[in-house]
Amino acid sequence: MEYFSAVDVITTKRDDGALSDDAITWMLDAYVRGDVAEEQMSALLMAIFFNGLSTRELNTWTDRMIESGERLDLRGLSRPTVDKHSTGGVGDKISLILAPLVAACGAAVPQLSGRGLGHTGGTLDKLESIPGWRAFLSNDEIRDQLDTVGAVICAAGQGLAPVDRKLYSLRDVTATVASVPLISSSIMSKKIAEGTHALVLDVKVGRGAFIKTVEQARELATTMVRLGTDHGVATVAQLTNMNAPLGRAIGNALEVSESVEVLQGRGPSDVRELTLALARIMVELVGIDVDPATKLDDGSGYEVYQRMIRAQGGDPDAPLPVAPCREEVVSTKDGYVQSVDALDVGIAAWRLGAGRARKEDAVSAAAGVECLVREGDAITKGHPMFVLHADDEAHLQLGRDAIAHAVVVGERRVNAEALLLERITN
Ligand code: URA
Repeated sequence: MEYFSAVDVITTKRDDGALSDDAITWMLDAYVRGDVAEEQMSALLMAIFFNGLSTRELNTWTDRMIESGERLDLRGLSRPTVDKHSTGGVGDKISLILAPLVAACGAAVPQLSGRGLGHTGGTLDKLESIPGWRAFLSNDEIRDQLDTVGAVICAAGQGLAPVDRKLYSLRDVTATVASVPLISSSIMSKKIAEGTHALVLDVKVGRGAFIKTVEQARELATTMVRLGTDHGVATVAQLTNMNAPLGRAIGNALEVSESVEVLQGRGPSDVRELTLALARIMVELVGIDVDPATKLDDGSGYEVYQRMIRAQGGDPDAPLPVAPCREEVVSTKDGYVQSVDALDVGIAAWRLGAGRARKEDAVSAAAGVECLVREGDAITKGHPMFVLHADDEAHLQLGRDAIAHAVVVGERRVNAEALLLERITN
């Protein structure tokens, strides 16, 4: 391999030039080895933030991230594999329902997930509220469970695209997270290394998402779909509305309970609608001719969920933790609910104890928010809008403050916004 100077690589991108494949490969490898300093990689990330990466550069950048670690080999399973990734929202418990449901349709779903940070919750944190459930599985255990149960939700091993962890920590402290090529390569390198054949991306847009406009979401989705397709992973993106929280439950155990309700054919209609929309894309991507609604309604999705939880040491029938401190928040006036702000509700759940500010913080299993009103509801003064759940009075107070302005009540009758926005295919 040719030797490059980090300063020359940074200069090229700073001046909006094109990086050669060898220069990208050298830079990332040298960064992993410790031969490129953190401040040099910071400068390159900032240059990419401003000047972007071409399709070729992004493919090479992503390849190198994948090759920085191991790849899970999911060939030879008895079912086709298909996964889902969400860019993160408030009350987004869809994975808990979707993975077993799509497995019940005949696919294998390898959901290698992460933990929550800030106001969006993490799938592993939610499942860890189930007594006995364990997030860490070996690669052999993942393969076995995919073959026998059809669905696994577990921690993404440290070996998948390890350079992403280093880059992500650096982006976090250098204001370079919000870059389409950097987000796309970060998400897609991990999903491609995971070995799935097909992938649906739920790209969330709105107040409770980190992407605020449809234009930005469209650009991110298009880039990720192209990256997946170029790497042999059949990829479709669905843009979805994240102005209001998804479903009624926000918080770890609360979201597990709501997921079980949906798997039992009950639960909020928006959660069911989004689950089925994503499930239909997933089965179509792998050529399975089954309507997922039939598997939700006949209980087979729920059966797979129970087997999936048991296979990882959890007891799906055990009572979930319940918060000792609970309090209703009521409306101070009559009218129609104009909006429920997903960001305010997400921050409230976080302050109540359901989320973490730093990676190493612990989360409360029982804390969170039950959201009792939706956009368009007619309410009167004193009508309960939320139930706050916390482990102690101090957290309850923080949640109370955060949620105080989450609902706007007005005189105008409004309709709920559409949940499903655009679909982006190759
Ligand atoms: N999620 C990721 O995994 N990476 C990003 O860069 C942003 C969100």
